[in-house]
Amino acid sequence: MGSEKYAGKMVLAPMVRVGALPMRLLALDYGADLVYCEEIIDRKILITTRTENAVLGTIDYIMSDGTVVFRTCPREKDSVIFQMGTSDPKRALAAARKVEKDVAGIDINMGCPKEFSIKGGMGCALLSQPDKIKQILTTLVEGLSIPVTCKIRVLPELEDTITLAKMIETTGVAALAVHGRTRDERPRHKNRNDVIKAIVESLSIPIIANGGSKEIFEFGDIERFRMATGASSVMIARRAEWNCSIFRKEGKLPLYDVIKAYLTYAFQYDNNDINTKYCVLQMMHEDMDRLEGQKTLTIKTNEEISEVWGMKAEYQQFLQDRKRQSDTLQDLNSD
Ligand code: FNR
Repeated sequence: MGSEKYAGKMVLAPMVRVGALPMRLLALDYGADLVYCEEIIDRKILITTRTENAVLGTIDYIMSDGTVVFRTCPREKDSVIFQMGTSDPKRALAAARKVEKDVAGIDINMGCPKEFSIKGGMGCALLSQPDKIKQILTTLVEGLSIPVTCKIRVLPELEDTITLAKMIETTGVAALAVHGRTRDERPRHKNRNDVIKAIVESLSIPIIANGGSKEIFEFGDIERFRMATGASSVMIARRAEWNCSIFRKEGKLPLYDVIKAYLTYAFQYDNNDINTKYCVLQMMHEDMDRLEGQKTLTIKTNEEISEVWGMKAEYQQFLQDRKRQSDTLQDLNSD
C-alpha cells in the first residue's frame, strides 16, 4: 500500500501554476520530503506524448502544439506525487498508468472548488458522490504499482466527514490529505484543525494535515500545526508559495535568495516564461512596491527576468550548456 511513504513527512501541496518542476526541486532542496505537482486533468495528460528530453535531462509530457503539461526529472522520481483531476475511474487509470513509471505516487484532487472542476464532476464535486470516489480509488489502487492517495476538504458536518474518510480508507489508499475547510469556505476562514484531529483518531492510515499556512510563519510552526491536528504529516501550500524555504529546519532564507534560487532552476530547466513570471510575482506579493517587483510586472521572458534579477550571466550559461548538449547529441546521432 505504501503508507510509510506518507508518514511523518513535510509536503509541498499541489498548486496550479506554482507546483511546476523548479518549485518542486527548490522545496526538496529546502527539506520537503514529498512534492505534489499542480493538478493535471486526466484528459490532458492522455493527449500528451512522453518524451525523454536529453538536452535538459528531463521527462516531458508534451501536447502537439509543444506545450509541456508535465516535466519531471530523475532527481524527484521518489518524491514527486502526480495530482490528477478526474471524474472517471477508467480514464483516471489510463492517465495514471501513463505516468506511473516516472512518479512516486498518484493523488486525486477532491478539494478544488473552482467552477471548471465542479462542472466537470471533479474536485469538490466528488465529495458528494461517495460511490464515484470509491470506484475511482479502488480502480487506481488495484491497477497501479505505486501508492494512491486523495486530497479532500472537510464536509460541513463532522459525522459526514468521518464517514467519508473511513470509506476512503477502505479503498486501500496509502494516505489521506485533508484541507480543514469546507467547499464554501475561503482561505480567510479558520482551518478546522479539530476536524482533522477527529479524522486522525478514526483512521489508521497516515493523515496529511493541510490548511495551516495562516498559522505557519516559521519552521517550528509546522510541527505546532501537526500537533494541533494530531496528523502524521503536514502539507503546505501558500506559505511555501510565498517563501519555499519555510521547509528549512535552520530557518527561512531572505526572500530574494529564495527567488534567485528559484530562478536558477527555472533557467536550468527552461521553464515556461509566463509561469516563471507568475511564480516570482507570487513570491513578491507583499513587496510589489519594490523595484524588482515593478519591473517583473512589465516583462515577458525568462531572459528579461534574468536581467531584472541580476542573473543574466547564469541565464546565458544555461543557454550555452543546452546548446553544447544539443550539438553533442546531434553529432552522436549522425555518427
Ligand atoms: C491551491 N490548491 C490546490 N489544491 C489542490 O488539490 N490542487 C491544486 O492544483 C491546487 N492549486 C492551488 C493553487 C494555489 C495558487 C493555491 C494557493 C492553492 C489548494 C492548496 O493545495 C491547499 O489545499 C490550500 O491552499 C490550503 O493550504 P494552505 O495554503 O493553508 O497551506
